[in-house]
Amino acid sequence: MQHRQLKDFPDGFLWGAASAAYQVEGAWNADGKGESVWDVFTREPGRTFKGSNGEVAVDHYHRYAEDVALMAEMGMKAYRFSVSWPRIFPDGRGTPNEAGLAFYDRLIDALLANGIEPVLTLYHWDLPQALQAEYGGWEDRRIIADFAHYCVTLFQRFGGKVKYWVSLNEQNYNLTNAYQLGTHPPAVQDRKRFFCANHHAFLANATMIAAFRQHVPQGQIGPSFAYSPAYPASSAPADMLAFENAEEFTNYWWLDTYCFGRYPQAALAHLQAAGEAPDILPGDEAILRNGRPDFIGVNYYQTLTFTENSLDGVTMQRINTTGQKGTTPASGVPGLYKTAPNPNLTTTNWDWSIDPTGLRIGLRRLASRYALPLMITENGLGEFDQLEHGKVHDSYRIDYLRSHLHACREAITDGVDLIGYCAWSFTDILSWLNGYQKRYGFVYIDRDETDAKTLQRIPKDSFYWYQGVIANNGADV
Ligand code: NOJ
Repeated sequence: MQHRQLKDFPDGFLWGAASAAYQVEGAWNADGKGESVWDVFTREPGRTFKGSNGEVAVDHYHRYAEDVALMAEMGMKAYRFSVSWPRIFPDGRGTPNEAGLAFYDRLIDALLANGIEPVLTLYHWDLPQALQAEYGGWEDRRIIADFAHYCVTLFQRFGGKVKYWVSLNEQNYNLTNAYQLGTHPPAVQDRKRFFCANHHAFLANATMIAAFRQHVPQGQIGPSFAYSPAYPASSAPADMLAFENAEEFTNYWWLDTYCFGRYPQAALAHLQAAGEAPDILPGDEAILRNGRPDFIGVNYYQTLTFTENSLDGVTMQRINTTGQKGTTPASGVPGLYKTAPNPNLTTTNWDWSIDPTGLRIGLRRLASRYALPLMITENGLGEFDQLEHGKVHDSYRIDYLRSHLHACREAITDGVDLIGYCAWSFTDILSWLNGYQKRYGFVYIDRDETDAKTLQRIPKDSFYWYQGVIANNGADV
């Protein structure tokens, strides 16, 4: 299988890049926008590196036209961005804020005028603070109706011009950080509340997808999942079992529920025995079954390797907020598995394993299990970039992206229906916890954690490389 001829990327492949509202927009209180949970959380001392926050971010709200012009220069075919819920509903619900909707009209129209397909993410973590304060956000069933109202407002407004929609971004990563690790708002560590918040997010996701079918019948919608395919640390049966457990708890718990409308059986049985299962009410299963997506959005950064965990308890690793190296956490389940280093892989300067073959493996697993088209909605390298004489020579990023695109091509050759690739990210963005020392963009932004400086946009070497990749439809990767 290694040596056969590779297939080409399909015609119409969505060559893109991605962002999220809180990480790029800034304008945190402009034109009637309400507060998000992140506006409040980042003001608390010690939460983020040097207290960095999204008040200005990279000022995309005011500079979107310049950013779209750069996307056009690059030849991008798709741009994934998120809508800020509190920009549309400052109080989380009620009457929409016209100025907020108008901003996204301007952005979408600018993209379309340049032949760039908008890929609209409905929720990328910036929950209206009003709903968190009123009833605890995802922990209360009222979130289902409020989320549906927000989404239907966007379906009605943008459904005629946006074809691709992402429902929830990384529910798994965000809620693990929010309710297990305590590093995202509301920063609690409580497993029962974790599974409860997830259950409501699943119900909200499925309810909103059912509404999408009515309002945007020609559109396509799917979640973006933080996908770290699992490996066993060895072929020892105990490690194999740990790996199976990890797949079930860290991947299938979410993906089966999105795609099949039911929780995976072994994981549910374990949680019920531990008294940690969510309260599943009559009617919930029917709602979940009605929410099958059109595609799975894959946010891929690394694989995780698992080994037996017979002795110690919770297995997750803490992501730190001090700006030092951090690892991606796997949602922890006492006793069932723990992560182990993989001696076969190198790591980034942030200790994330680099594994393009893992991407090929992961795409194949998802395609086989769920029989859905896949879209890479994020993949990229966070690094300490240096601006030298007005240039950023990020050959390491080019190497990373090239090898992962090659893996995509191999997966396509293996029969995976891959419809697009959105690199993370287009410009540098605010890292949720790590400020601007960890950069991902094709375009450098002149600012740091405490000083917004000039906010000048400076294309990196990777910008010109990706421009060439798009121009020949990936023929050289
Ligand atoms: C996934 C998240 O969706 C995004 O917001 C974040 O910046 C990247 N991972 C990098 O950690």
